[in-house]
Amino acid sequence: MFITFEGPDGGGKTTQVAMTVSTLRERGHNVLLTREPGGTAIGDQIRHVLHDMKNQAMHPRAELLMYSASRAQIVEEVIRPHLAAKGLVICDRFFDSTYAYQGYGHGLDLSQLKLITEFATGGLKPDLTILLDIAPEDSLQRRLSALDKGGEWNRLDAMALDFHKRVRDGYHALVAADPQRWVVVNAAQSVEQVQGDILKALEPRLVETKSQG
Ligand code: TMP
Repeated sequence: MFITFEGPDGGGKTTQVAMTVSTLRERGHNVLLTREPGGTAIGDQIRHVLHDMKNQAMHPRAELLMYSASRAQIVEEVIRPHLAAKGLVICDRFFDSTYAYQGYGHGLDLSQLKLITEFATGGLKPDLTILLDIAPEDSLQRRLSALDKGGEWNRLDAMALDFHKRVRDGYHALVAADPQRWVVVNAAQSVEQVQGDILKALEPRLVETKSQG
């Protein structure tokens, strides 16, 4: 089974992914945790270029191709082999981030983006995607407050608030287009409440996967 987590930076995604993975491992699932961009040695080098504050001049099409290159590598090197071994893969971001950020955020053509994404993934699609949903004003505020505790502020955080609003609306449009695949969790709640909602959504689907063998 292939599960992805999506949502804005500052929505608590990294914490929630880590908590979910540790619970599923305690319950005996063979979980592989990975993230995008990155997740492979090649992908981590691409991640560095994408996040570097020096690269403000990066064109959205160049950005899209770098995310896609990182994705092609992680799919073949990491995700497909684990799925083939009947494992559970959890990925912190996947192609929905591209639709939300490069498509809805930057306004790149969605049908072209779909072709490039399908080429990069070889058609691989998550079975389930969890959206940690929070207003951009709140998520950016959380990122700013975390800076003095070692938090990160990258090139994408520095985009205008309008951009982050389009990204959130984009996520909602993606959910509306494929509601079976998505679970939307209110990320403005406490860490424990968010985790509770995630596990509640996962449990019946994991049982279903087991009974299908
Ligand atoms: P994160 O790893 O801290 O979540 O940061 C990744 C950043 O990259 C985040 O701002 C979202 C952005 N991103 C895209 O714009 N497009 C993509 O396809 C992916 C995977 C991430």
